[in-house]
Amino acid sequence: MPDAIFAHPRLAPIYDTFDGDRDDLAAYLGIASELGADRVLDIGCGTGCLAVLLAESGRTVVGADPAGASLEVAKSKDPAGRITWIQDDAATMPALGADLAVMTGNVAQVFLTDADWAQALQGIRAALRPGGYLVFETRRPERRAWEEWAADTAPVILDIPGTGSVEQRREVTSVSLPLVSFRYTYRFLADGTVVTSDSTLRFRDRGEVESSLASHGYRVLDVREAPDRPGREFVFIAERTT
Ligand SMILES: C[S@@+](CC[C@H](N)C(=O)[O-])C[C@H]1O[C@@H](n2cnc3c(N)ncnc32)[C@H](O)[C@@H]1O
Repeated sequence: MPDAIFAHPRLAPIYDTFDGDRDDLAAYLGIASELGADRVLDIGCGTGCLAVLLAESGRTVVGADPAGASLEVAKSKDPAGRITWIQDDAATMPALGADLAVMTGNVAQVFLTDADWAQALQGIRAALRPGGYLVFETRRPERRAWEEWAADTAPVILDIPGTGSVEQRREVTSVSLPLVSFRYTYRFLADGTVVTSDSTLRFRDRGEVESSLASHGYRVLDVREAPDRPGREFVFIAERTT
């Protein structure tokens, strides 16, 4: 069950506004070009920001996410229907023969147990052609991002056309490494509605990710910085081995 922030019908439509500029996505377009990828699968596509950019660059794109409310937002950005949207979990991807699968944002960190992560890697592998690529980011645990989150408790109020002012608060609710949990509370000031969303992310170190990829039929080609967040994230570029 995806978190309310992605799956709740009042929260998914305001996700992009609170997420802000997506300076992170240009690097993924560059990697798709570098890898010569024409058929791209965006796993955990959410509201479709990257999938739309990939389609605009002329690629054949599938956007997959288990959160129906986020997919509705994504579909609204694709009125010509150029993208294939599927409501699905990484673990159960269809065999698409994709050249490249990407996971941006928190996606690679939502798989909390080793079994969840193994099933996701297997599902993604099945969606790739032999020799296809898996590219994803994950926060570096040594950077301890949760300490910054815990220190930053100031509410954010944004005015959203058609919705009115919405206040967002974030609190870190548990740090039990490698798991970190946090809660967003949204208050819709126009009608007083309050909706909360609880999330937990797993922070895997570089060695753990590399060995899990090797165990599930991938070869790690490169581990990079996220250009817009130096020192904070690893970007893994892996290849399906057979
Ligand atoms: C932080 S959002 C990132 C969305 C998008 N990739 C982006 O960069 O804007 C994380 C996404 O992962 C999705 N997600 C959660 N569990 C998932 C799963 N088991 N398989 C695939 N996606 C999942 C959520 O529904 C959500 O849309």
